[in-house]
Amino acid sequence: MTVRPIRYLGDPVLRRPAKKVSRVDDSIRRLIADMTESMYAAQGVGIAAPQIGVSLRIVVIGMPDEEPFALINPVVIRRSGTRRLDEGCLSVPGYRGPLTRSERVVVKALNEDGREIRVRGEDNLLAQALEHETDHVNGILYVDRLDSKDDLVKLEPAGTRERNEGD
Ligand code: NI
Repeated sequence: MTVRPIRYLGDPVLRRPAKKVSRVDDSIRRLIADMTESMYAAQGVGIAAPQIGVSLRIVVIGMPDEEPFALINPVVIRRSGTRRLDEGCLSVPGYRGPLTRSERVVVKALNEDGREIRVRGEDNLLAQALEHETDHVNGILYVDRLDSKDDLVKLEPAGTRERNEGD
């Protein structure tokens, strides 16, 4: 398993609709292992293959204290309700922004064994991650879903505020 560098906003691979996986084989499972390592190294709860420069429809989700899992060729088959959330992304480091997501989300995908699975999130971080990561394989970033670009909030690095105030 290898930690691969995260691609950032401005990299065209993030904007390309990713290619469908036609066969779930060992090379795909190795990629999933690298994605998982890269996600944890960057302290994320989800990652999509384009974020490490691979234009394939694969995402990994790793909720806190839960086993990570992969979704291959994920499609949102049901969504309902809306809620306002604050969101960030490994590919847009140092920023967060408010946006509207669904309350309930169901995604259909293949798992690492090539079997069809459905994953359901309801009013939780998982529901948010399912929409966020599925957006990634369609070339969509959360910044596209802000009401206005002015809503993007720059996070101050830890300690900066104290130093500035002391000056
Ligand atoms: Ni992201």
